[in-house]
Amino acid sequence: MTWTPSAAGQKRIDEIIARYPSKMAACLPALRLAQEEIGHVSKEAIDWVSRRLELPRAHVQGVVSFYTLYHQKPVGKHVVQVCRTLSCALVGGERILDHCQKKLGIRPGETTPDGKITLETAECLASCGSGPVLTVDDEFVENLTIESIDALLDRLRSEP
Ligand code: FES
Repeated sequence: MTWTPSAAGQKRIDEIIARYPSKMAACLPALRLAQEEIGHVSKEAIDWVSRRLELPRAHVQGVVSFYTLYHQKPVGKHVVQVCRTLSCALVGGERILDHCQKKLGIRPGETTPDGKITLETAECLASCGSGPVLTVDDEFVENLTIESIDALLDRLRSEP
């Protein structure tokens, strides 16, 4: 099965490609576009990016597997990524991740049965001075405490 973006997505990718001196440079935004339309970067999306940018499929697959911002399988409505790198670990990051797992009843890489939250771990999110840190979708949540995690997860789960 093949996949192609919507007409608006096709227009956007044309504009993105025109911005860069080589098609390879458009790989990250092209994958982002695919993820925005599908919800994750499917094998078909990787095929499309590979064809559209004239890149080896292995190169595109390598980019997808390297960056945690790309989801390689379907995810919940919200994706919570908890930093597990040293600076955050030193100020309680592991405790935060444990608490998320217990409260949600899932392990990293899993999605709650209601489909609302996918829990993941991430390497340094580049906000080491304000750890423990996580992201919800594209938003940073910093200086985490058990109380702030509870409030955050309760809010996400109560959304329609
Ligand atoms: S170690 Fe957590 S943001 Fe850098």
